[in-house]
Amino acid sequence: MTGEPLLEARNLIKDYGASRVVNDLSLQLYRGETLGLVGESGSGKSTVARLLLRLIEPTSGQIVCRLDHNGAPHEIDLRHIKANEMRRLRRKLAIVFQDPYAALDPRMTVRQTLAEPFAIHGEKPVGTGRAIDNLEARLIELVREVGLDSSALCRYPHEFSGGQRQRINIARALALRPEILILDEPVSALDVSVGAQVINLLKDLQQRYGLTCLFISHSMPLVRYLCDRVAVMQHGRIVETGTWSEVCEHPREAYTQQLLAATPEMPVLSE
Ligand SMILES: Nc1ncnc2c1ncn2[C@@H]1O[C@H](COP(=O)(O)OP(=O)(O)OP(=O)(O)O)[C@@H](O)[C@H]1O
Ligand SMILES: [Mg+2]
Repeated sequence: MTGEPLLEARNLIKDYGASRVVNDLSLQLYRGETLGLVGESGSGKSTVARLLLRLIEPTSGQIVCRLDHNGAPHEIDLRHIKANEMRRLRRKLAIVFQDPYAALDPRMTVRQTLAEPFAIHGEKPVGTGRAIDNLEARLIELVREVGLDSSALCRYPHEFSGGQRQRINIARALALRPEILILDEPVSALDVSVGAQVINLLKDLQQRYGLTCLFISHSMPLVRYLCDRVAVMQHGRIVETGTWSEVCEHPREAYTQQLLAATPEMPVLSE
């Protein structure tokens, strides 16, 4: 890859008590790419996602971001910026979590859920009408973008299937037009065929918006389908990184070979 990474972890360490969950981890995410982060359960993948978004604080190390900031892309260490600056940057960084059931507030309609990021960030969708009409137009656009009907807006999470709920989570993540999308096992709670549809939606959105994505997964076939590069994680470290063919066709690490061997057959995915 050329150029400077859009988001970068440098020598990250995260300790929980005596256990080192992320151990001197460095990772680069380049503009427009999808990087797959794979590794066995407990290797620290979700912790890395949370550290990158600063949902949790690292014990040490740097998280460097080169998102446009005040109009100019320059290097910002996310650990040393003020809360209000972080809030501004957070709009550009979105995450979709694994569990589509836990991620949505059951008391909120889809309209309320999707409107929330605009309220939190004080952002008004652009348009020619009144602010409230512009917001409604953007919410309709969002649900349609993820393949749902606009009638979904006045419904509650329990009225939707798992796949539909994950579409709503994706719509919420996209609400403020982020540049970086972190997907933490976005389909592992779904049936294979439903998951495949959500993956195809993600691939479509990624291409349409030129999103930069970190795709966390157990599934090597999904990583192969979606990702430009792969980083393999074990015990809090990256043990191998490269393109799919570098890492998976010629794995240097025995651990990567084990992950590949443990992977079930490719689910049905259409190009
Ligand atoms: N808040 C916490 N307090 C203590 N230990 C934690 C905490 N969060 C995570 N851990 C530990 O950190 C390790 C890595 O967890 P993490 O959730 O990042 O793994 P993962 O690679 O995402 O696993 P999975 O594939 O199962 O989602 C685990 O051993 C976990 O028990
Ligand atoms: Mg996880």
